[in-house]
Amino acid sequence: ATPNAPKKPERNFVKIMEQQGRKVIFFYGSQTGTAEDFAARLAKDCHQKYGVSAMTADIEAYDMSYLDTVPADSLAVFVVATYGEGEPTDNAVDFWEFLMDDSPQFSGMDNMDSPLSNLRFVVFGLGNKTYEHYNAVARRLDERFTALGATRIGERGEGDDDSSLEEDFLAWQEGMWPAFCQALGVDENNAKSGPREPIYAVEELASFDADDVYYGDLTERSTSEQIVYDAKRPFNAPLTSRELFKEGNDRHCLHLDIDISGTNLTYQTGDHVAIWPTNNDDQVQRLAALLGLKERLDTVIMVKATDPAASKQYPFPAPTTYRAIFAHYLDICAIPSRQALSQLVEFAPEGQVREALTTLASDKDQYRLHVHEAVRNLGEVLEHVLGSASSDAGAFSQVPFDLIVECVSRLQPRYYSISSSSKESPHIISATAVTLSYQPDPTPERTVYGVNTNYLYHIHATVHQLPSPGPAYDLAGSRGALYDAAQSICKLPVHVRRSQFKLPRNSSLPVIMVGPGTGVAPFRGFVRERVALKNDGKQVGPTVLFFGCRHSQQDYLYGDEWPELFATLGGESQMINAFSRETEQKVYVQHRLKEHGEAMWALIEKGAFIYVCGDAKHMAHDVQEVFIGLAETYGGRTKERAGAFIKQLRTSGRYQEDVWS
Ligand code: 2AM
Repeated sequence: ATPNAPKKPERNFVKIMEQQGRKVIFFYGSQTGTAEDFAARLAKDCHQKYGVSAMTADIEAYDMSYLDTVPADSLAVFVVATYGEGEPTDNAVDFWEFLMDDSPQFSGMDNMDSPLSNLRFVVFGLGNKTYEHYNAVARRLDERFTALGATRIGERGEGDDDSSLEEDFLAWQEGMWPAFCQALGVDENNAKSGPREPIYAVEELASFDADDVYYGDLTERSTSEQIVYDAKRPFNAPLTSRELFKEGNDRHCLHLDIDISGTNLTYQTGDHVAIWPTNNDDQVQRLAALLGLKERLDTVIMVKATDPAASKQYPFPAPTTYRAIFAHYLDICAIPSRQALSQLVEFAPEGQVREALTTLASDKDQYRLHVHEAVRNLGEVLEHVLGSASSDAGAFSQVPFDLIVECVSRLQPRYYSISSSSKESPHIISATAVTLSYQPDPTPERTVYGVNTNYLYHIHATVHQLPSPGPAYDLAGSRGALYDAAQSICKLPVHVRRSQFKLPRNSSLPVIMVGPGTGVAPFRGFVRERVALKNDGKQVGPTVLFFGCRHSQQDYLYGDEWPELFATLGGESQMINAFSRETEQKVYVQHRLKEHGEAMWALIEKGAFIYVCGDAKHMAHDVQEVFIGLAETYGGRTKERAGAFIKQLRTSGRYQEDVWS
């Protein structure tokens, strides 16, 4: 081997545990970073409170066939999210395939009947009750491990991201730690509550090479020529945009064209594009002021793990600046967890302010009302507890910055359904996004702005020299290299995520699509793909699109494109619209679907594929009820058998959803 060849990372986690003396390993299957955060929080308590050495581990990074060699006095904890239709997260897919195999080939294989009899484990699942397969991954993992002979300590935990994820996680720990202590022979009453031990060390650099400083890049710079762009290494893609419609000052809908030409990035119609957001400057300034960092935003700092054996030595590229960390690396617009607030208490100004923060951190109801339902981010919570003292700049300057890095999650990409067809447009990815802003119920005087959509609109407005309402962004600031004012070009870090949401391979089969609002995005791609196929001389079956919006003249997305597309498809292909605010009674896509029920049932009998995209909570549910109704009314089935029929369509891939909550 060449002396300078990079060392291959060790994939045998048991070996690493032994070398580093770790007793517990916290695996995470994470899509948006929450499971990863939870795993880190558990590992920290494991170490600091119970004095048991632990490590966190990205499931993808290790060879899971070594599970059968985990020493019997150790423990493996799995913090796993369920995603889409009961699927594991991207980083857990390989592990899932391995584990669900009829006879997984573990490394030792000396006990064929119960290969995991040495393994002690426990599972916490992250799911969402809005979706059908609630916490399916955690449940199946638990079952499978048990069937393979492993021993669970304590109970499986399940969190519901639709309502109470954080509280579910905290409640589960109340039972888990005692079971943990028993299993590892730790005296629970001896749990330490000494001074905190920082996970990260922060050093302000007096001297540095300016070229080495990261101003918001997402990956460490690579000198290799063949760059593979993916979730861990996004591509800075040039963006162009046009406005599809606007309503009032705050609601704008954008069509984005993202140029991936000249890269090895590819996509398929129906995939998702991930866009990495930037926090707005108002929020950056607010938090920096509270922490007494306003004057030092551009100070160059090094943030590094204190544990030299930690699997992640740097939480983000380093050296960097406070400004870049606030704008690009930390999710400072997210709602802080109750646990995060309780960690800040000891650094709050004594007296009323500290009491107010303690209340929010310890009283579930107060937290729910003033933090969760009021959708307050960390800076806003701190301002809230300051109350009338809110002009106190630097009131929280005693909070160590490493604690902020520790308890605020990493900023994550936002995913959009791709609205172009890869057949027609292989190098330009389109996305359709509407700016999100709302007034939270308990505090209707405040407006909360969606992080990425408002950032995208700000870029659009800047490039097109339009006034930009809403929050301000510092485009020329930290990630400045991506905005070229002279050329009016802005680039955005992006990557592509494969999805299961795909047209039937046989284009002559009928398709029925239901997509109100921006739920129509993937169907613009689907319809354009079918038109491209037809223009190629392929046989294309009936293509029916149910679309819904408020007004035909207002928010009718891509209204200028549909007539020609459907004229080309011809035959039974058609677009059926539901305009909800043009009549006294609201008309929604599900109503129109029911009206056309008989014809749609006929298409289903001919093998139609059904696609639903948009709001998971109400729309997707109601649409499914209508389809079940069709199987009853026109298919002559009982309600129960009609439900089973639709379920069967789902299983066989003929009923697909791309929904969000
Ligand atoms: P509304 O806002 O007038 O209630 C895109 O957002 C379209 O979806 C709008 O016309 C919106 O109508 C409609 N919509 C709102 N709730 C819905 C639901 N539960 N099912 C279907 N469509 C819905």
